Amino acid sequence: MPDQGYHAGSAVTRQVCRALDTPPGRHDIEVVIELDSDACLTRVDPGQLEQVILNLVANARDAMPAGGMLRVGTAKIVLDEAASRRHAETNPGEYVTLFVTDTGVGMTPEVRARIFEPFFTTKPPGSGTGLGLAMCYGIVKQSGGHVQVESDPGQGSRFTVLLPREASAAPVPAAASDGHPPAGHETILLVEDDASVRELTSRMLGSAGYRVIEASDAATARECAEKIGGAIDLLLADVVMPGGGGQELAEAMTARIPGLRVLFMSGYTADVVLRQGIVQEEVAFLPKPFSPDALAVAVREALDGPAT
Ligand SMILES: Nc1ncnc2c1ncn2[C@@H]1O[C@H](COP(=O)(O)OP(=O)(O)OP(=O)(O)O)[C@@H](O)[C@H]1O
Ligand SMILES: [Mg+2]
Repeated sequence: MPDQGYHAGSAVTRQVCRALDTPPGRHDIEVVIELDSDACLTRVDPGQLEQVILNLVANARDAMPAGGMLRVGTAKIVLDEAASRRHAETNPGEYVTLFVTDTGVGMTPEVRARIFEPFFTTKPPGSGTGLGLAMCYGIVKQSGGHVQVESDPGQGSRFTVLLPREASAAPVPAAASDGHPPAGHETILLVEDDASVRELTSRMLGSAGYRVIEASDAATARECAEKIGGAIDLLLADVVMPGGGGQELAEAMTARIPGLRVLFMSGYTADVVLRQGIVQEEVAFLPKPFSPDALAVAVREALDGPAT
């Protein structure tokens, strides 16, 4: 944690209050907070951790329309070889866990299988973006952790976030020294075939101060670049798109626009993308889904880094 004053317990209380007290408020939910009495140190951006807590607690609240019990807490666990094999994607080691359980409606296996997909929601139009858990997933993965879900219809849900345990409280590099994500004023050509992802990314970049030109495919991107005479500082492109990948587009555009920076994004993990040779090593790469802060940091680094 970046300073001695930060304590996960107060983060939990703050976000639980935020989720339950926001008018009209929910007074039909009993809250139990169970914090491990020992130090549970982990390396995570505190602002992002609070987002994770808020999203999980808000989901638990929404799953209990007729009231119920919300339990939020922290604990330490050690995963040995056998235990880590039982939990998909985990490695053996010491973890700090944050759990959020509810006695709400629960989930069918079909819903449970899709909850981390960006824009997946079962809420009526206008009441859920379907980005809450995608955001949580991105943040936890970035911090080297995992999210586990146990739920059955009518049986409530239990979300467990596992974060690697740290032996000592070394300072964490924050997104920026003033606690705000880095911003900029440059022009970014955003190429993404999924309209909702494109709009959201564009909004995130716009609020960080950038000028954004949107294109849904490589051909449109080339046209846009042509039209504005190559006045583009960064190409932010999806790696895999119908009608031509981001890599060929990047090669063509860097050849024409001197000093152009390139940042790839993809729903595949960096490892898969690199192993399959979809993009070459040494390229700037942002895994999807990403948080606004992760996007801001990756964009700033690509713009300030060496040209490709
Ligand atoms: N605690 C829970 N109990 C039951 N279902 C849940 C729970 N948490 C998540 N879900 C299911 O997962 C879906 C996706 O959750 P997510 O947080 O990503 O989006 P959302 O809550 O629908 O929208 P938003 O987060 O923008 O309000 C929810 O619509 C719901 O179907
Ligand atoms: Mg949600």
